Amino acid sequence: MAVLNWGMIGGGEGSQIGPAHRLGARVDGLFDFVAGALDHRPEAGRDYGRRLGLAADRSYGDWREMLEGERARADRVDLVTVATPNATHFEITRAFLKEGFHVLCEKPMTMTVEEGEEIVALARETGRICAVNYGYTGYSLVRHMRAMVARGDLGRVRMVVAEFAHGHHADAADADNPRVRWRYDPAQAGISAQFADCGIHALHMASFVIGQQVERLAADTVSCLPSRVLEDDAQVNLRFDGGAAGRLWTSSIAIGRQHGLTLQVFGEKGGLRWAQEQPNQLYWMPLGERLQVIERGEAGLSPEADRSSRVTIGHAEGMPLAFANIYKDLAEVIAARKAGRTPDPAADLFPRAEDGLRSMAAVHAVAASGKAQGVWLDARPPMFR
Ligand code: NAI
Repeated sequence: MAVLNWGMIGGGEGSQIGPAHRLGARVDGLFDFVAGALDHRPEAGRDYGRRLGLAADRSYGDWREMLEGERARADRVDLVTVATPNATHFEITRAFLKEGFHVLCEKPMTMTVEEGEEIVALARETGRICAVNYGYTGYSLVRHMRAMVARGDLGRVRMVVAEFAHGHHADAADADNPRVRWRYDPAQAGISAQFADCGIHALHMASFVIGQQVERLAADTVSCLPSRVLEDDAQVNLRFDGGAAGRLWTSSIAIGRQHGLTLQVFGEKGGLRWAQEQPNQLYWMPLGERLQVIERGEAGLSPEADRSSRVTIGHAEGMPLAFANIYKDLAEVIAARKAGRTPDPAADLFPRAEDGLRSMAAVHAVAASGKAQGVWLDARPPMFR
């Protein structure tokens, strides 16, 4: 397979998520990093891009310059990653899709449901891929959970319990630190803080694993620090379109929790438990039998799990390699399109604009339900009702 050209916007020096993308995109040798507009400060972005090995004429000062520069090239980027702050995702993603680029956008894909619907419509109209980086679904054992549910190991899913609770914004004395404060400022963060930042990862993972979409939800949202307008903790009850019920807890004041993304799925015939901080083990309890530990990389896993595992059993694989699986899927689908062949069906697992839109509808429903003392609300985007 020919190596594809990849570029990124955002992810500049010192950013949180930039390095994981650069590791993930390149680890399998499927993408070359050839272009970028990495920083909101043009000179800092150009300089960092050059230090990372970009050619001077493809280390751009801002994303508009990059769009202009790449559009005209025969060897233009095959995929562009948007890893800038949330409020810029819509404008940048829309502009690149319109020009015929495939895009991998960081979450949340947009700030409003209407913008999300516009991106879905645009991706469909242009036939371009708009993927959304729910990168934790790239973990081999998360994909294995999905395969186990799909092939009926659990029977009908009764309950899914998802958490994404950390304690990194719990310090009241630090709440005014600008790196923390903007996240709870409605002018910058929108209508939701913690649910839009972390809760949507847990919700997307629950949907991905059980193969069902959320239909209705009821939320209890709390600002544990009184200075905050937006929530730093939420408990959300869920009902899915395939009949499953769900519970989701997300928090940023859970002192002692680190990353805190976990998923439990309870079906008629067994239960599963997985945690992002120990991603190489999956706990499976078939009804009436003993608890089993499934190890990433062991023999006899699903094709989806095998395809997304690289390192031999017993050696830990971590988050950049989960992101690498999103990139591996995208490389397969983009390369297949270029070659006019059918992609490997096991690569058809990357999250899409439709998922980004569903998350945005859920964010708005959580905020509205939280304000209305936890009333049940329709959580679907109007486009999918
Ligand atoms: P950050 O604040 O650490 O870094 C943002 C970077 O984008 C900086 O280098 C900044 O200079 C650059 N930037 C800002 N505006 C820009 C513009 N207009 N053009 C070019 N570059 C620009 O932010 P962080 O934490 O890396 O988050 C970025 C995005 O990634 C957010 O949307 C966040 O929600 C998402 N994220 C996703 C994660 C995941 O697991 N999928 C984990 C962490 C963040």
